[in-house]
Amino acid sequence: MDNSLPLEPPSPSRRKLLNFLTGAVVATAASSAIYPAAKFFTPPKEGGEGGSIIAKDKLGHIIPARQILAEPPGTRALIAGLAGEPTYLTVKADGTLEPVGIVNNCTHLGCTFPWNGTDEQFQCPCHGSRYSPDGSVVRGPANLPLKLVQVAVQGDSILISPWTEIDPRTHQKPWWI
Ligand code: FES
Repeated sequence: MDNSLPLEPPSPSRRKLLNFLTGAVVATAASSAIYPAAKFFTPPKEGGEGGSIIAKDKLGHIIPARQILAEPPGTRALIAGLAGEPTYLTVKADGTLEPVGIVNNCTHLGCTFPWNGTDEQFQCPCHGSRYSPDGSVVRGPANLPLKLVQVAVQGDSILISPWTEIDPRTHQKPWWI
């Protein structure tokens, strides 16, 4: 006696339903895997809290955070910050970004300046002003510390916003507000 059940191919409508359900499961699984990645790479909106902007290069292209964080500790990376002002971001020893950015605009007469990694100073080529890593004046003629901005990493974007708190170097209201 044959006890085996007859194996009938699914009817066309049943096959469609099975295909649909399989597709729905695959789509749901794929979208739940893609969503966090998409969210990570989708830049946050600019002009949000505190007038923040996204760090860009001088051509206006967004700079991914991972690009700067791949640099060695101690790197001073130059980006276009608030109102396009060139701004130094610092990669810390732990591979994160310093939450404070230094605006590359000498407080003497407004020249831009390089970071000298050997001397650990910002050194202005115009009239010789020098600044420590936190932007304090080491040598004049500049007599004001460098302007600061807030730096935050959100997903793969770097947000730059105005510094409106007490200046941690002078313990006073910042000279630029
Ligand atoms: S502009 Fe920098 S020292 Fe004069």
